[in-house]
Amino acid sequence: MTGESGQRTAVAVLGLGEMGSALANAFAGGGHPTTVWNRTPGKANSAVGNGAREAATAREAVAASELVVVSVQSNAVAHDILESAAEVIAGRTVLNLTDGTSSEARAVADRVTENNAEYLHGQIMTIAPGVGQPESMLFYGGSEPAYQRYHSALTLLGGRGRYVSGDVGVPALYGMAVHDTMWGILNGFLHATALLSDAGIEAKQFLADAGPAVANLTAFLPFLGEEIDSGEYATPFGALKHHLPSLEDLVRECESRGIDAEFPRYTRSLVADAVEGGHAGDSYSRLVEHFGKG
Ligand SMILES: NC(=O)c1ccc[n+]([C@@H]2O[C@H](COP(=O)([O-])OP(=O)(O)OC[C@H]3O[C@@H](n4cnc5c(N)ncnc54)[C@H](OP(=O)(O)O)[C@@H]3O)[C@@H](O)[C@H]2O)c1
Repeated sequence: MTGESGQRTAVAVLGLGEMGSALANAFAGGGHPTTVWNRTPGKANSAVGNGAREAATAREAVAASELVVVSVQSNAVAHDILESAAEVIAGRTVLNLTDGTSSEARAVADRVTENNAEYLHGQIMTIAPGVGQPESMLFYGGSEPAYQRYHSALTLLGGRGRYVSGDVGVPALYGMAVHDTMWGILNGFLHATALLSDAGIEAKQFLADAGPAVANLTAFLPFLGEEIDSGEYATPFGALKHHLPSLEDLVRECESRGIDAEFPRYTRSLVADAVEGGHAGDSYSRLVEHFGKG
């Protein structure tokens, strides 16, 4: 954002680890007056090279800035740093980009708003070198007016920023949901390639031959999502009972060839329990109830 004076928003970046340094470089490189602070001195060279100024204390950095960005090891650390600047934080906006649980984010937010500052929590969905790239995604939650006010400054962090909720815990939940989905897909792929590799087939050969079948899998997610949201698990796409024989084959194939079978056995037990529970004709989405959706 640019104020009436034409000056860009003054930004403080607290924490100059791998991520904090990338954030400081993005703001300073984007023309924002940027003041940086790190517990251990000597980490500001890159930001200072981009035009940032180093403060001796977090309090000094906060006092010099309108938007206070925090990126440190944990939300407990973020809380303590912001407490050390509590006397000067009123009227400013804190953007906490520190990873943690949703309740940890809410705890920091409560303390900041008690001190009469606005609060945004952000979840960065890229590694440090991805900061500022057009395709990099960030989720934001908390004060929507603050998000709108600083929107152009936040665009410097990644081209695909998205405000998702007034609840400051939701960005962390979105991040976890993306990672949860990712790990499920990655584990499935790595297990599958171990099975193929044991038979002398390289992953790249498999992808060249079967890539479209694998890539199409995510096309089913919107259908599953609709069923989950509505609690209607009837399906035109293949009932749970049809998964069981394929899972049995996979488990037997792994066991007979000494490939780790724990992962397919776990999936088989989920499906078998649902089938035995009277849901043989339902969609795979029915398994969401096993994971906790009542
Ligand atoms: N690096 C990435 O690619 C990446 C990607 C996505 C998200 N993130 C998230 O970004 C946040 C920062 O990660 P990072 O990679 O920058 O971590 P990092 O390189 O390990 O840096 C940690 C930062 O926390 C500070 N810190 C730790 N304990 C402190 C304390 N007790 N008091 C004050 N400062 C303390 C460190 O200060 P000192 O220098 O004094 O130790 C340093 O500035 C984390 O939540 C991380 O999950 C990082």
